Amino acid sequence: MDQHIRLGVNIDHVATIRNARGGTHPDPFTVAEAAIAAGADGITIHLREDRRHIRDEDAEKICARFAAPINLEMAATEEMVEIATRLKPHGVCIVPERRAEVTTEGGLDVIGSHNSLAPMIARLNRANIVVSLFIDPDPEQLRAAAYIKAAVVELHTGAYANNKPGELARLAAAAALTTELGLECHAGHGLTFANVTPIAALPEVRELNIGHYLIGEALLTGLPAAIIEMKRLMRAARM
Ligand code: PXP
Repeated sequence: MDQHIRLGVNIDHVATIRNARGGTHPDPFTVAEAAIAAGADGITIHLREDRRHIRDEDAEKICARFAAPINLEMAATEEMVEIATRLKPHGVCIVPERRAEVTTEGGLDVIGSHNSLAPMIARLNRANIVVSLFIDPDPEQLRAAAYIKAAVVELHTGAYANNKPGELARLAAAAALTTELGLECHAGHGLTFANVTPIAALPEVRELNIGHYLIGEALLTGLPAAIIEMKRLMRAARM
């Protein structure tokens, strides 16, 4: 199997801490630089409709100044497609968004919203942006993602991280199906040092996007050490 698996570090919660005091520290851009220096393969940011953490000026600066791939998570709205086509991140991950949720709670309903998603994907592709859809490990949703020409799916690992019985098997089956459908497979949500290994070991998974745990762990050991350890675990899982 391809040994390489990328780590995208989600820095949303650096902005959460900054925003708690309304100032400029800690600066997500500076932390993103530190994450790349420590071995992160890319940076993930979620520009939410309510701008509760990452703000437009963060997204603009991060997309403009990084050579490393930037993965912009966003809702499937006209406003966000307009922002993405202007900022031109390497990739966009379309996620469902509900105002009251604490974090992204479930995957996209690609089957139910393919009519609105397909033209958005086409527009993003025309701007040379690789489009990923964040979905639950459900074969029908995967088939719908391939049908509307998403290049990538990010499998939602939240239920697995919450120890839902049978979820690892569902993720493994969904990951295997991506090869058949010609989709690149990413995964993320709720991943930690303790639960990352079985997901990183799935041969089809090419990228993990991890945020909250790494930022929390950074309080104890520093962000570089947390990233180095996560990458070590991911590499070991591929052996
Ligand atoms: N992937 C997607 C699509 C997400 O929405 C999130 C949360 O913002 C993550 C990955 C990272 O999840 P966590 O912060 O739990 O590591």
